Amino acid sequence: MSYYQIKSLEQYFKHYNKSIREPRKFWDKIADENFTWYQKWDKVVEFDMQEAEVKWFLNAKVNITKNCIDRHLAKRGEKTAIIFEPNNPDEEAQHITYNELYERVTKMANVLRDQGVKKGDRVCIYLPMIPELAITVLACARIGAVHSVIFAGFSASAVTSRVLDLQCKLVVTSDGGFRGNKTIDLKGIIDEALEKCPCVEKTLVVKRTNSKVNMKEDRDYWLQPLLDSAPSNNVAEIMDAEDPLFILYTSGSTGKPKGMMHTTAGYMVYSAYTFKNIFNYEENDVYWCTADIGWITGHSYIVYGPLLNGATTVIFEGVPSYPDFGRFWEIIDKHKVTQFYTAPTAIRSLAKENWEWVDKYNLSSLKIIGSVGEPINEEAWHWYNDHVGKKKSPIVDTWWQTETGGIMISPIPFVTPTKPTYATLPLPGVQPVLMDERRNEIEDNQVVGSLCIKFPWPGMARTIWGDHQRFKETYFTAFPGKYFTGDGALRDEVGYYRITGRVDDVVIVSGHNLGTAPIEDAINEHPAVAESAIVGFPHDVKGNALYGFITLKESGEDRNRDNLRKEINEHISSHIGPIAKLDKIQFVSGLPKTRSGKIMRRILRKIAEGEFTNFGDTTTLLNPEIVDEIKNERI
Ligand code: PRX
Repeated sequence: MSYYQIKSLEQYFKHYNKSIREPRKFWDKIADENFTWYQKWDKVVEFDMQEAEVKWFLNAKVNITKNCIDRHLAKRGEKTAIIFEPNNPDEEAQHITYNELYERVTKMANVLRDQGVKKGDRVCIYLPMIPELAITVLACARIGAVHSVIFAGFSASAVTSRVLDLQCKLVVTSDGGFRGNKTIDLKGIIDEALEKCPCVEKTLVVKRTNSKVNMKEDRDYWLQPLLDSAPSNNVAEIMDAEDPLFILYTSGSTGKPKGMMHTTAGYMVYSAYTFKNIFNYEENDVYWCTADIGWITGHSYIVYGPLLNGATTVIFEGVPSYPDFGRFWEIIDKHKVTQFYTAPTAIRSLAKENWEWVDKYNLSSLKIIGSVGEPINEEAWHWYNDHVGKKKSPIVDTWWQTETGGIMISPIPFVTPTKPTYATLPLPGVQPVLMDERRNEIEDNQVVGSLCIKFPWPGMARTIWGDHQRFKETYFTAFPGKYFTGDGALRDEVGYYRITGRVDDVVIVSGHNLGTAPIEDAINEHPAVAESAIVGFPHDVKGNALYGFITLKESGEDRNRDNLRKEINEHISSHIGPIAKLDKIQFVSGLPKTRSGKIMRRILRKIAEGEFTNFGDTTTLLNPEIVDEIKNERI
């Protein structure tokens, strides 16, 4: 029996139990049967969770790109590996076969080598969502360079701090990027960022927008001529299982962003295994994840997971609202997408629009739809289920983190019965536990607690680049011997998990521990409300009280605000209880969000507390202008 794909609930429990009883055997078999290795491991895993030291597949030798590309060529050389859908629907989509991908990746790998990039060097990639982004990622992995993709919406100062932290020698960027009706001057941002980065010796520039850019002599080179003269084959570097594969920055609630470092073999096994099970990929499927490759979701589920499984993966350059709100649905119809994976923030923003935008298109190709990045509220879940999944495509609500490398808790489609707002059950190999305030493991069901993982899994990050102490303190100290996720969760009567949000999103009101996510869920059900964010602020009597920042749907804009405030509180009262009523409600035109769509509650918390400075690191903020509006109109 292969452990690679789960086909029934009975099989899930069998695999799950096996993976807990004999984790080494379980992962040994998966790694052995599904990948090509230069040399197999001496030992499956070695760890000391107190010290945050974890190693998988010790002394194995492998190259992940051989597994993503070369081994598919005999059987799938002419199969499409990547479909590139440009920002502008009038520009033709590109279909890149596995043969072509091999050629483009090996050429790029040769260019990087020619430019002096060696195994272990860090390469920063600052590109829009174009094929060259995936190709550069793979080319780095081919030669053993450590890639660090910086989301192409980040500001110059965010680029500077990452490049310096990595001491990176070479940057790959483009003359610009298209996003909706805008052209973004990526090269200009890189020029500004690199003024403070003496470590960077070279930048390679992809031509995308044909914008006029400054090319600095002896530093900046157009990529295409270099590719044209590079040979189209390349010997892959032999990598140790624990050699770093990539570093990706994630922001914490305090301090500078953390460079999460992932290594080669464990990440490969885990991203491939989870992709196969969560998306149930079959040979002719067309899989589409709308995330940006600048985030972990794009790394694991646009590039590595799909390609390791020989899949066809869509890369979309644009945004859901351009040229109109039907763009996602049009792409599904056009490319006959079978698996569609997106974020609750995108679902909510599209659900605000008339659902006829969805109904205009034929979505009958869809088999599975997924959600990632934050708790999906009940209303959004039903909208997604009704209008996109047409109640026949299961929703995989996948919980995981940059740090986990791959999906940890999620339904397996057609196997695990779904339940709105629940990520449901852990994948085999994942051992979640809920911990109480006294740091004891809670064994019962129908409980809430801090979500920890008590056994290592292959995809987990190994360290924070340059700061192992911080890694240990952030993830392995609060609950010694366990990995602390920072999230709270509820476990229901059958053992399903519902992620309730970051534990620091909990507010204690009159001694009651209130998670803000369920209150937001209740508010979002009000017909006039589009989105909400709840934070606590100090209160003389209650200790803390709740402050709500709420955006309205277009249909709610004309409503009398005092009546709305009353209705919203009555709604909370009847859904959660009077204890959760909001003391203050401020209607706002938008919420401060990170570029990956998460609400930056830390800023709202400060504003609610009356503190208008010291917002901490705001370089990841998508819409900084909204902060002034919210400050000025604070109640
Ligand atoms: O709070 C959880 C939330 O997103 C956090 C991880 O964010 P990031 O590292 O940016 O990775 C996002 C993509 C994996 C988690 O700690 N989160 C992610 N997925 C879910 C979620 N919360 C609830 N339900 C989810 N499905």
